[in-house]
Amino acid sequence: MGRDQSPASIRRIGITTGGGDAPGLNAVIRAATLAALHRGWEVTGILRGYAGLFDTSQTMSLDRQAVRGIAHLGGTILGSQSRGRPFTVYEERADGGRVEHDRTPEALAGYRALGLDALIAVGGDGSMQLAHHLSQHGVRVVGVPKTIDNDLSGTVVTFGFDTAVSVATEAVDRLHTTAASHERVFVIELMGRYAGWIALHAGLAGGADVILLPEIPYREESIYEKIREREARGRHFSIVVAAEGARPVGGEVTRVEEGGAPGANVRLGGIAKRLERQIQENTGKETRSLVLGHLQRGGWPTARDRVLSLRFGAAAVRALEAGESGVMVAVDPPDVRTVSLAEATSRMKCVPVDGDTVRSARDLGICLGD
Ligand code: F6P
Repeated sequence: MGRDQSPASIRRIGITTGGGDAPGLNAVIRAATLAALHRGWEVTGILRGYAGLFDTSQTMSLDRQAVRGIAHLGGTILGSQSRGRPFTVYEERADGGRVEHDRTPEALAGYRALGLDALIAVGGDGSMQLAHHLSQHGVRVVGVPKTIDNDLSGTVVTFGFDTAVSVATEAVDRLHTTAASHERVFVIELMGRYAGWIALHAGLAGGADVILLPEIPYREESIYEKIREREARGRHFSIVVAAEGARPVGGEVTRVEEGGAPGANVRLGGIAKRLERQIQENTGKETRSLVLGHLQRGGWPTARDRVLSLRFGAAAVRALEAGESGVMVAVDPPDVRTVSLAEATSRMKCVPVDGDTVRSARDLGICLGD
């Protein structure tokens, strides 16, 4: 992180959105563009993640017209890529092995060819690592933390999280009524990868009976006990919220089996189906499961996410103007500040198991599977 570069030399900046999309991306693009135009800078949108650095035709000019009326829209007008590692190309060898080639020099050449003086990189942990990598190669870069998973360090919250929790909470609310009518158990699988933020918050807001988090390995018996105890109290239905990354004590996370691109992330998923079968067999209760999936990422951002995204986009431009680089904008209540990309990418931010939100869930009698 440093203030070693003269802000006066900025004439054009690039904006890139990478990784899985999240509601609020367009609001960041709008705010960063307007704040940059306000300073007399030009703005180039890099399309499909970092693709525009490798093929400079994959870019668009961002002017006032291009960002008009987009703050409330989901997705990203720039497109995104979440599979594979964009700065690495794999070559198959005759013996079946694979050789990796580093494409950083190509990316830097693209950056220069586009006439960029700085980059705003919007993304999650993978994108922040790439931004950090570029900053170590002399690119003036400021990151903006995006992910519905809320698992990025250095910031209290990422944009997209609030919308995902709202969507998931509505789903839990809706399952409640049908579960009660039919006296069933429902298991709902929520996203979040190896962090349980969405499951914890939506489970708490939606009044779940059981919440399973990656941070607290569960015992199946503890789930069955909770359902039986509710049954004994005349509560003939139960709602189990399971984070996709939850796993049993001594067991593994459930994964979607697939070939996948080289370097691609492991796809988590399948825990709800597994628990549905186990719960029905062991409690005798009719059980159904639901995977909420990408609905948590699609559609318009909540007002809270819109405001956060607009603040982030404008703050990223202010950071560039102040000569900062190798940093990420971050929420440090009540303000948005910057933290170093090195810190932001140093570790995953998980739910603190002895934090007040988990303790409150326990105080409410919610079973956390342990
Ligand atoms: O990181 C965001 C996220 O939505 C995770 O919660 C989820 O595990 C993953 O992305 C899904 O990725 P994809 O869209 O590639 O299936």
